[in-house]
Amino acid sequence: MNPAHWTEDTRDEALEPADLNDSRMKVVDVGGGTGFTTLGIIKHINPNNVTILEQSPHQLAKARQKEALKECTIIEGDEEDLPFPTDSVDRYVSAGSIEYWPDPQRGIVEAYRFLKLGVPACIIGPVYPSFWFSRFFADM
Ligand SMILES: C[S@@+](CC[C@H](N)C(=O)[O-])C[C@H]1O[C@@H](n2cnc3c(N)ncnc32)[C@H](O)[C@@H]1O
Repeated sequence: MNPAHWTEDTRDEALEPADLNDSRMKVVDVGGGTGFTTLGIIKHINPNNVTILEQSPHQLAKARQKEALKECTIIEGDEEDLPFPTDSVDRYVSAGSIEYWPDPQRGIVEAYRFLKLGVPACIIGPVYPSFWFSRFFADM
């Protein structure tokens, strides 16, 4: 994911591996921020079944202002410790957040814990740029 190109179209394309094929599925958006990716999720999933988990109260305040997200469950918390029972969630989505996690492996272990057996997790992260100019800014 390149933040300069994180548009609605790229978001929707990036969500395809999540296979959001049933509106009744229970989906969690980890590091959901202001809910930009969640807006892509609720194109396919009933908002009542979607949880946004985010560590920043400031980001969450913006998510809460979005009318389309009013029915979503919005939780302040950390990706390493999610309040879901084991084997209870159908899909895990996280976009542009894993690069900030202090110990990404712990977050992935936590995802394995509460996801149902064999369902996909869609984790969208940065790609190291191939163009020198973009690489210069990425490295900064
Ligand atoms: C670049 S924003 C992406 C937000 C959103 N997923 C999107 O696609 O627009 C990254 C988000 O991850 C959140 N974040 C970073 N570390 C986190 C952690 N350990 N637990 C939960 N959220 C975290 C940040 O607060 C921020 O809102």
